[in-house]
Amino acid sequence: MSSNFKALRTIETSNGTFESEICERNIDDLPNGDVLIRVEYSSLNYKDALSANGNKGVTKNYPHTPGIDAAGIVEESSDKNFPVGTSVVVTGFDLGMNTSGGFSEYIRVPSQWVVNCPDNLSTKKAMVLGTAGLTAGLCTLSILNKVLPEKSNIIVSGATGGVGSIGVHLLSSLNANVTAITSKTDEIEYLKKLGATSIIEKNEFRNSTKAPLSRGMYDAAIDVVGGNILSSIISSMRYNGIITICGNVSNHKFQTSVFPFILRANSLIGIDSANCSIEKRKVIWNKFASEWKLNKLDLISKTVSLNDLPHEIQKIINGKQIGRVLVKL
Ligand SMILES: NC(=O)c1ccc[n+]([C@@H]2O[C@H](COP(=O)([O-])OP(=O)(O)OC[C@H]3O[C@@H](n4cnc5c(N)ncnc54)[C@H](OP(=O)(O)O)[C@@H]3O)[C@@H](O)[C@H]2O)c1
Repeated sequence: MSSNFKALRTIETSNGTFESEICERNIDDLPNGDVLIRVEYSSLNYKDALSANGNKGVTKNYPHTPGIDAAGIVEESSDKNFPVGTSVVVTGFDLGMNTSGGFSEYIRVPSQWVVNCPDNLSTKKAMVLGTAGLTAGLCTLSILNKVLPEKSNIIVSGATGGVGSIGVHLLSSLNANVTAITSKTDEIEYLKKLGATSIIEKNEFRNSTKAPLSRGMYDAAIDVVGGNILSSIISSMRYNGIITICGNVSNHKFQTSVFPFILRANSLIGIDSANCSIEKRKVIWNKFASEWKLNKLDLISKTVSLNDLPHEIQKIINGKQIGRVLVKL
């Protein structure tokens, strides 16, 4: 094993801006941990772009290697549950935040962050899904606890993004009628191919659902956007509706009233993939390897190298990405 490897590194310049470059690092520079992993694939998530753009709520100290997702092969281990040669996945916890992350040929992490990659799931597929897939899966699991997907109307915001694309694809594969909210009217065909049965432009959706209680249309929702769109989603749920919220690309604040909750018995469920339990992760990864086998992941993802990442990072921060960006190390 060579002790030098390549990684993306974000630096803070003397004038306070942030730049990302590919650099050579050494295994000895990695943080302590029980498991050294040779990363085969990583993926780009919104949080990585925040880290690479100097968001101190995500990453406090620079230089830093972002990348909240990584899948690969165990190369050194002091944990008998993860022997050398095991195929593993790490997402969230502190990876890529204040711990050197997955945009790197190697990571070293505590074994408590590691899950086995299920037999029927390659490290590549695991990273096409990545944190976005885990999150869409957690939202779906919460929805399935309350709503039968067959013939249900389920609405997904930020539909062409990572969480959104997988949410649309997964829920439609479970036979739900999926409505996709998007800002990208030129991506209607993409959303239809993923199984969306209706597509609505975000401003049109907002303008038709401004009342505290609008017409009840949806049984469940996945919201990655927050702000006004979330307010509108809440006001347009049917009786017993369930809204899963996981993101805030538009705004972390939203307005609502008690009416959707006391008159329609709606539930608002927060979703966190970063610190959710290993047991829950195993449930989701095993579902993706079996009953949730998705057949349009090629349509959702594109593969890039470390060198391409700075450009892709700027695209995701500007809301311009479509689907998932897989990073091949
Ligand atoms: N809670 C968790 O565990 C968890 C896990 C993963 C992600 N997240 C959060 O979920 C959000 C989405 O993550 P992602 O990785 O899916 O990001 P992404 O790939 O960039 O997708 C976000 C999508 O939202 C829409 N959008 C972007 N900017 C917007 C704006 N200003 N107003 C309205 N819509 C906008 C765009 O879709 P359209 O053009 O189709 O509308 C965009 O493609 C982020 O806030 C992220 O931090 C949370």
